[in-house]
Amino acid sequence: MNRSTPDPKQQMEQLRQTLRQHNHHYHVLDNPLISDAEYDALFHQLLALEKQFPEEIPADSPTQRVGGEPLSAFIKTAHLQPMLSLENVFSVEELAEFDRRVREGLSLTEGVVYAVEPKLDGVAVSLVYGSGKLIRAVTRGDGRVGEEVTAQVKTINTIPLTLLGGGHPELMEIRGEIFFPLAAFEQFNEQAMAAGQKSFANPRNAAAGSLRQLDPKITKERALNFYFHSLGRWQGAQQPATHQSLTLQLKEWGVPVCPEGAVVQGMRGCLDYYQQLEQRRDQLPYEIDGVVYKVDAFAGRDKLGFVARAPRWATAHKFPAREVTTTVEAITIQVGRTGALTPVARLKPVVVGGVTVTNATLHNFQELARKDVRIGDWVMVRRAGDVIPEVVRVVQEKRPPHTLAFPPPVRCPACDAAVIWPTGEVVARCGGGLSCPAQRLGAIKHFVSRRAMDIDGMGDKLVAALLDNKLVASVADLYSLAQKRQELIQLDRMGEKSVDNLLAAIEASKQQDLSRFLFALAIREVGETTAKNLAHHFQSWDKLIEADPESLQGAADVGQVVADSLTTFFSEPHNQAIIAQLQQVEGCQWWQVARLDHGGERPLEGVTVVLTGTLEKMTRQQAKARLESLGAKISGSVSKRTGLVVAGTKAGSKLKKAQELGVEVVNEAVFIQRFL
Ligand code: IVH
Repeated sequence: MNRSTPDPKQQMEQLRQTLRQHNHHYHVLDNPLISDAEYDALFHQLLALEKQFPEEIPADSPTQRVGGEPLSAFIKTAHLQPMLSLENVFSVEELAEFDRRVREGLSLTEGVVYAVEPKLDGVAVSLVYGSGKLIRAVTRGDGRVGEEVTAQVKTINTIPLTLLGGGHPELMEIRGEIFFPLAAFEQFNEQAMAAGQKSFANPRNAAAGSLRQLDPKITKERALNFYFHSLGRWQGAQQPATHQSLTLQLKEWGVPVCPEGAVVQGMRGCLDYYQQLEQRRDQLPYEIDGVVYKVDAFAGRDKLGFVARAPRWATAHKFPAREVTTTVEAITIQVGRTGALTPVARLKPVVVGGVTVTNATLHNFQELARKDVRIGDWVMVRRAGDVIPEVVRVVQEKRPPHTLAFPPPVRCPACDAAVIWPTGEVVARCGGGLSCPAQRLGAIKHFVSRRAMDIDGMGDKLVAALLDNKLVASVADLYSLAQKRQELIQLDRMGEKSVDNLLAAIEASKQQDLSRFLFALAIREVGETTAKNLAHHFQSWDKLIEADPESLQGAADVGQVVADSLTTFFSEPHNQAIIAQLQQVEGCQWWQVARLDHGGERPLEGVTVVLTGTLEKMTRQQAKARLESLGAKISGSVSKRTGLVVAGTKAGSKLKKAQELGVEVVNEAVFIQRFL
């Protein structure tokens, strides 16, 4: 064959193999070997070739994950082997009973080896691979017959269309869980709600709803993932003897397996695993509702067999439920520090995920209307991790007679000002500004909070008491509290000592710098990072408030929305009055950026740093001086010994070299955040 014109067929197959490897490194191992742009280039090269030779495109080509044509209906398909369910244990006693039965069945006195895994809260599917190629994907359905979702499953990037490596069995049916990772789920719901579209009650519904889309292109947009959990059928080739060795084998072939899986001994090992995982439940990037214990050895499983529709060799141990039902005793409206009105359901107290819940958010009035939550209703309440409990849905079947839909408010419940419904926003707001006591309370609570002015000892109750007793009306009044010592001492639970401490904390807050002060003012859209970016860009309060909307956008990550919000805030007479009052406070550092000395520490002591490209917010000289003050040695060229590269815009060969050598690179914004 002519060397200069490679066989396109071979070339395409090579590209497919390369892309499969990169796909696996990127999606499953989270460790890409090439850049997105390089991947795209290879992908497009393959696409172009396949366009020339359309008759040569195999169904497992990486280009075939695109989704294809919508289906008119799902086809029902019988499973090769029924997909069983699991028995549950809810207590240590029940677990002990399970373990006893397993030992009895296996004629063991102790120490059964169990494969243990999280119980993923998703949708079970069966994947059939013929000689290493994905040929069918079917939902669990009733366990005997499911629905074919091959086109949909093919859009899930982590599922191999062709297994990596070799030695694949002729026929292999594996089962696992398709799930919606939490971060993607939250992002999806936020976007759906903002667009006034249907959101999902929980990640499981989101996974099911996304998989059961007749149009696979919709499934493709949903960031679904999959973890293997059990074997259906294995034909040809030697089957691994244990769940653990099977899992390792599948991992090598590119099948995603849950990284939390482990092997333990006996019931003690199971319980330790349960407790350890329950503690980490909120840190996991996906939802789990318990753990599953399975006899590790397949020979042991065969011996134990099945009862009815569940195996004797496995059981699920559930965590406390995160969704429970209770009744709505009242619906109230909370007024936030920016005037946002949030409907809240007051509930008959109920334990969810181990914590007693009495309130649940209804998010906003659009959501409230959509869910049609009424006083007296039975509702499903959900609490996950640190997230505020929320009402998922109404149990319509249990709705008592004569309930009424909750009307959206016309007046603010705290100050009676008219409610504003800004166009294009789902949030209703109180129009009373800082004359509204609820907004005032929220604004002061935020001002004194740890990440803002950090006034120690000023808790929510004290802020409320100060407002109630008319000792303060705005954040500016905090700085004249020193003249009201006697009145402060009179307050509930305050004494000489605590008043002294409080006044000292207020005094200390004068040392906070511009970025914290900006954040503390509770300007809409100005979070901690934006406040930092604004402070570093403008360096002083005066320069910031003189800036027109266009120059405001010169600061990192500040766009029109933030700029508009700042302009509105500064032009509001009430805010101007408070700021004028704050400007009278003596001896404070709020109006400029603090000269941070990192507490005298030199975090870059001995580190060689290279500056490259153009810096926008400072001269190279300033950056160099700053780095040197932190202990860095500045060098002009990148080598293995370089510890850090600060790359501005238009960085060229030095940046490239750093990337090749795996040297840490930061852009200007990150440099400012970390080192200025
Ligand atoms: S093993 C014979 N392992 O739970 C069944 N199942 O209640 C063997 N599930 O439909 C299943 N996580 O889809 C197993 N790590 C895990 C699991 C798991 C979730 C699901 C499974 C099944 C349901 C049974």
